[in-house]
Amino acid sequence: MTKRRRHLRGIVRVALIWAFAGALVGALIEVLADTLPGGLQMASLVDIWPPALAVIGFVGGGVVASVFGVAEGSILGTLRSVVRFRRFELSPAARRLGRCASVDDLREVARRRLPRGVFGYIDGAAEDERTRARNCNAFHRLEFRPRVLRDVTNVDPRATVLGRRHPLPLILAPTGFSRIADSQGELAVARAAARAGITYSLSTLGTRSIEEVASVSSGPRWFQVYVWKDRGLVAELVDRARESGYEALLLTVDVAVLGRRERDIRTGFTLPPQLGLDTIVDGIRKPGWTWDFLTSEPIIFSSAVSRDAAGGTGGVDAMGLAQYVNEQFDPKLAWDDVDWLRSIWDGPIVIKGVQTVEDAVLAADAGVEGIVISNHGGRQLDDAPPTMELLRPVADAVGDRLDVLIDGGVRRGSDIAKAVALGARACLAGRAYFYALGAGGERGVDLVLKWFDEGFRRTMALLGARTVDEITPESVLWRNR
Ligand code: GLV
Repeated sequence: MTKRRRHLRGIVRVALIWAFAGALVGALIEVLADTLPGGLQMASLVDIWPPALAVIGFVGGGVVASVFGVAEGSILGTLRSVVRFRRFELSPAARRLGRCASVDDLREVARRRLPRGVFGYIDGAAEDERTRARNCNAFHRLEFRPRVLRDVTNVDPRATVLGRRHPLPLILAPTGFSRIADSQGELAVARAAARAGITYSLSTLGTRSIEEVASVSSGPRWFQVYVWKDRGLVAELVDRARESGYEALLLTVDVAVLGRRERDIRTGFTLPPQLGLDTIVDGIRKPGWTWDFLTSEPIIFSSAVSRDAAGGTGGVDAMGLAQYVNEQFDPKLAWDDVDWLRSIWDGPIVIKGVQTVEDAVLAADAGVEGIVISNHGGRQLDDAPPTMELLRPVADAVGDRLDVLIDGGVRRGSDIAKAVALGARACLAGRAYFYALGAGGERGVDLVLKWFDEGFRRTMALLGARTVDEITPESVLWRNR
């Protein structure tokens, strides 16, 4: 086609687009004239709007295209090649998530979306929050030692934890009160985890019951146990977990008393969150969360209830967490209780909250199948050691007797690789999905799980590791230690 013909075709195309737009505007005016109360007093004129505007559009478009050269191959073509519009997302959650590329971004969106007290509870930690920060810094101080020229066409990120194959060395940590971030709460997280084939751990302080979570998730699930003064209630929870197909128990041992969460004290945060006069302004500033909160059923500790009292699906009213923990949890909890738990549960037991090599050895002596090196995300004892610094000594001491897991500061697939390098079978991540839930509900959790998967695979390829066994202590190096 000659240049002249191409130009002419461009002019006709622009004129036709304008004609179409004119007809559309005319039709719209006609509809408005018919439907507006009283109608527009120009019925006869309206009849000729669509064709008239189409003709005007055709001529006008043609003139503009010829005078300014806005035709194919010139300005229009150039514009088309340099301007790219994002597809407009109808769902506000999808729009928010579309602007995020990392867990830090999700955290920022959650910070803007959630009331201050709610975000502070999720994000905050004990006292000066030094342990929380050091958990993350420990990951930042580890450098990789990538090996190259190793044909990484196929990387296999699967890991074996408690004798079961996992799609990657990642377990979702138990987090209390997930419904404060999104009304679907634990159900959303369990569904997303099941879709990804990743194990989800439900907390005793969950706001959806053991049975509700089991009914929406066919994926692997663990149940986290706090030991109540009333051992009968614990035994009942364990029974319910067994009946609902939970595969392992995570016994959390670092909450003899509750850590002092100073952000919660400053914001006056209560559980469930309450929209009192002092929080009403914050509530108005966060309309999405407030609407979701006010239009869904009240937040309760759904599992922490006697089966006899509530037919297994009820709950007790939530209250201040410190009050609840100090009234209910048993500070007498000791190694004997691990034997007791073993007597009422025949599946694997994982002790969560080990923070020294000595206790790791005692856990191995007690015969449990796994431990999680954990300081509860820095939420309990400030200045407890960063978990990643403990990992290698603990793995060296007991890694051949039980599965060593770790949590605290896991935000990326590359963090998982660092933990695996130092001897972890898998990582647990809690805040990462909690931020995602607050930023975009269930879609947010899907997204963060996708990032973990992609990030871990990418890191393996860049490290030259084709299987998790090829990620070894030689894959990393401490900087400035
Ligand atoms: C509950 O487990 C909490 O850390 O708040």
